[in-house]
Amino acid sequence: MPRERVIRFALLGYGKLGQGFHKIFLQKKEHIRVQTGIKLELARILVKHKNITRPRQTAPELFTYQPADIADDLSIPIAIDCIGGIEPTFSIVKQMIRGKTHIISANRALLASKMHAISDYANEHAIHFLTEPSFGGGLPVAAIVQRDLVANRIHELYGVVSGVSNYILDEMYTRDVSMKEVLKSREIPDMGESVAVVDYEGADSAMKVSILAATAFGIDINYLDIHSEGIARVTRSDMRWARRFGYAIKLLAIMRDHDKGFEIRVHPTLVPQNHPITSVHGHYNACYIKTDLLGEYMVYGRGVGVEPTSSLILRDLVDVSNRIFNNPKRQRFYFNWNEKPVLPIDEVVTSYYIRIPCVDRPGVMGEITNVLGGHDINITSVHAEVGKVRGDTIGYVHIFIDNAPEKMVMSTLEVIRALKLTRGAIKYFRILETT
Ligand SMILES: NC(=O)c1ccc[n+]([C@@H]2O[C@H](COP(=O)([O-])OP(=O)(O)OC[C@H]3O[C@@H](n4cnc5c(N)ncnc54)[C@H](OP(=O)(O)O)[C@@H]3O)[C@@H](O)[C@H]2O)c1
Repeated sequence: MPRERVIRFALLGYGKLGQGFHKIFLQKKEHIRVQTGIKLELARILVKHKNITRPRQTAPELFTYQPADIADDLSIPIAIDCIGGIEPTFSIVKQMIRGKTHIISANRALLASKMHAISDYANEHAIHFLTEPSFGGGLPVAAIVQRDLVANRIHELYGVVSGVSNYILDEMYTRDVSMKEVLKSREIPDMGESVAVVDYEGADSAMKVSILAATAFGIDINYLDIHSEGIARVTRSDMRWARRFGYAIKLLAIMRDHDKGFEIRVHPTLVPQNHPITSVHGHYNACYIKTDLLGEYMVYGRGVGVEPTSSLILRDLVDVSNRIFNNPKRQRFYFNWNEKPVLPIDEVVTSYYIRIPCVDRPGVMGEITNVLGGHDINITSVHAEVGKVRGDTIGYVHIFIDNAPEKMVMSTLEVIRALKLTRGAIKYFRILETT
C-alpha cells in the first residue's frame, strides 16, 4: 500500500448537495484511503444562516460563517463549492483562490456565467480549478475531452444533458402521456434542485452547455447568450407524429466547430429512432462526440443527483490531492480560450420538420410547397393528413426540409402564416443531422 498522505478540505455550502456529499464522503473515505493512500479530512463547512438546525451527526465546530476561516487557513488546501448562485459565491471563490485554496466547483449558475473570469484568476494565482461536478450528473465528459481526446480535433459534440428533461420527454414518448401527467410524477422532486422551473425553461441545459463549451472548445459564452428552447412546447401530439415518422424527440445540446465559428444551441430535436441517443432513457444523460481520430464516441451515465455529482467531486478531490503531493508548482491550466465567434442562430443551417394545421381544401399543399420552393428551400418529403379538432375537419401538412438556414426557414413560415390558410399554430422541430 502506498504511504498515507492527509489532505484537509472544506465544503462551501451545506444544503442538499453539501449534506448529500458529506454522507457519501463518510461512506467512501476509507475506500479512497485504501485505493489511493490519501486520507481525506473534512476540516470546515461554510454556511450562511445561523438560525438553521444542522444535522445532529455533523460536529458543530466544523461550521463557520466566515469565508476567511477557510481561505486564510493554509492547512486547508481544497474547497468544494456547493453554494448556488453567482454572488456572493463569485467573491467567496475569489477569496479562496487568493488564499491559495484549490477549487472544485459544483455551482452551475456561477460557472455558466463566470467560467473565464474564475479560470483566469485561478491561473494567475496558480490554483487548480475543477468544474466537472457542476454538470450535475456523473458524466466525466470534461475529463474525457481534456485527457483522453487531447490529440483529437472535436468536430461536434451533442447530447442529452438535462436528466429531468430527458425523464419527462422519455415518459411522454414511451407511455404516450401528456407533460402534465408526467409532471405529477413523485420521482421528479428527487432528481435535482429547482427542477420544475429550471429544466422546463431549458436554462439548465444552457448552463451545462456553456460549461461544456468552455471545456471542449475553449468557448467563452454566458449561458444567457446561448440559443435555448426548453421542453415546454413539446406536446403529446408532437411525440405521436414524431414516432409516426420514425423519430424520437430529445432535448439536445448541440455544439459544432465550423471554420467561420461555433454553433451552440439547445432545443427539443427530432432524433432518428435508430440513433444511439434515442436509447438514453429516464434521467440518464449522454454525450455523443465526433472527432478526427476517434470517429464517433458516446459517454453515457446518470444525469442528475447527489450521488453521481459526489462521485465526480471525490474523483476531483483525489486528483487535486495527487497534484498537491506530486508537484504543487506544476499546475494544470485547462482553458485555451478560442477567439472564434459563436454563430447567431439565424446563421445555423439544419434540417426541419414542420407541421401546418390548415383548411381542408384541394390545392393547399401546393400553395404551401410553392412558398417554400420560391425561397429556395429544399423539401425532402411532404405528407398530408386530415383530422378532427373539436368537430371541425382540419388538414395537416407535414414537411421535411433538408439543410436550410434558420433565418430563411423562419421568414418563410411568416409568409405561410400570411396565406390565411392555417388553422392553429405551425409547429416546427429541428432534426438532428447524423452524417
Ligand atoms: N442538489 C444537487 O443534486 C446538485 C447537483 C449538482 C450540482 N449542484 C449545485 O450545487 C449548488 C448547491 O445546490 P444545493 O441544491 O445544495 O443548494 P441548497 O440546498 O440551496 O444549499 C445551498 C447552501 O449554500 C449555503 N450558502 C448560500 N449562500 C451562502 C453564502 N453567502 N455564504 C455561505 N454559504 C452560503 C447555504 O447556507 P445555509 O445552509 O446557511 O442556508 C446552503 O448550505 C448549486 O450551485 C447547484 O447547481 C446541486
